[in-house]
Amino acid sequence: MEYFQSILIKLAIGLTLISATTATLNVTAVPLADGCVAYPGYDNATSTAGPLRVVADSTGKELDGFRFIPKFAIAVGGGSWGFMVIPTTENKTADAKETPFRCGNGTLQAHLNVGIQGDRWQTLIAAGTPAESVFGFGLPDLPDPNYHLKICMRDSHIVDGVVQPGVFLGAVNVTTWGFNYQNNTEAGEYYFVRLLGPNSNNLATGKPLNPGEFTGYIKITAV
Ligand SMILES: *[C@@H]1O[C@H](CO)[C@@H](O)[C@H](O)[C@H]1NC(C)=O
Ligand SMILES: *[C@@H]1O[C@H](CO)[C@@H](O)[C@H](O)[C@H]1NC(C)=O
Ligand SMILES: *[C@@H]1O[C@H](CO)[C@@H](O)[C@H](O)[C@H]1NC(C)=O
Ligand SMILES: *[C@@H]1O[C@H](CO)[C@@H](O)[C@H](O)[C@H]1NC(C)=O
Ligand SMILES: *[C@@H]1O[C@H](CO)[C@@H](O)[C@H](O)[C@H]1NC(C)=O
Ligand SMILES: *[C@@H]1O[C@H](CO)[C@@H](O)[C@H](O)[C@H]1NC(C)=O
Repeated sequence: MEYFQSILIKLAIGLTLISATTATLNVTAVPLADGCVAYPGYDNATSTAGPLRVVADSTGKELDGFRFIPKFAIAVGGGSWGFMVIPTTENKTADAKETPFRCGNGTLQAHLNVGIQGDRWQTLIAAGTPAESVFGFGLPDLPDPNYHLKICMRDSHIVDGVVQPGVFLGAVNVTTWGFNYQNNTEAGEYYFVRLLGPNSNNLATGKPLNPGEFTGYIKITAV
């Protein structure tokens, strides 16, 4: 799996590394400080950081730089939950009222309208099953794992000895995510992302990636 991911990462960052010999790529994810201190724009007075931009990165597709947006599902028995997804085309009109992100209460949050509770800062997680730890919020009946997201690697995101700029989101020292295209009548077209952490191989095929899935990172910058 490590080898496979390395190949994809090499493809994704392509030309910049082609001259960097044939050495095996080695992605090192080193977590930054707990809490919000290491996020861009940290405010010591409030212990929060923001506003933040949260975008797709190094996918090798046109969606690099696209912002994450919420896709809501309505849980049985009330309360909203859903996924943070990448739209297939960016809506420039909606950019003006993009979803606000910040680091608050020690973790990444999005300002969302969560049904009867109204607008509030909602903690973002990667949860579901080990094979499908999806980037989202308020997921119901949380089974394991329910990854607490952390930022990694601002100065330590190292691919084959080359430090990559930026702050990247991940968990359990993994910052590589799989991007999965969806098209359904209710929610439309989008990509959901799942953390390619331990035990994330496709359950049916045993392969690291789902059919049609490609890898990338979630990059966080100050707005
Ligand atoms: C990758 O780099 C880390 C830290 O430099 C090192 O501990 C590890 O052995 C390397 N892995 C491979 C496969 O080269
Ligand atoms: C951050 O705030 C704490 C009190 O909450 C204070 O002791 C500390 O000096 C502040 N640090 C900076 C760099 O302002
Ligand atoms: C873009 O966003 C605006 C405002 O949210 C919305 O009215 C419009 O329908 C959207 N356009 C597309 C193509 O999704
Ligand atoms: C803050 O995070 C802690 C766990 O780290 C949680 O127990 C608490 O409910 C959170 N507070 C808010 C206001 O979300
Ligand atoms: C993540 O890496 C740190 C050091 O870089 C290490 O102390 C920690 O055990 C690692 N955590 C996991 C879940 O691998
Ligand atoms: C998405 O699904 C709809 C039907 O649900 C179909 O009409 C449309 O062509 C699909 N779009 C793509 C890009 O496949």
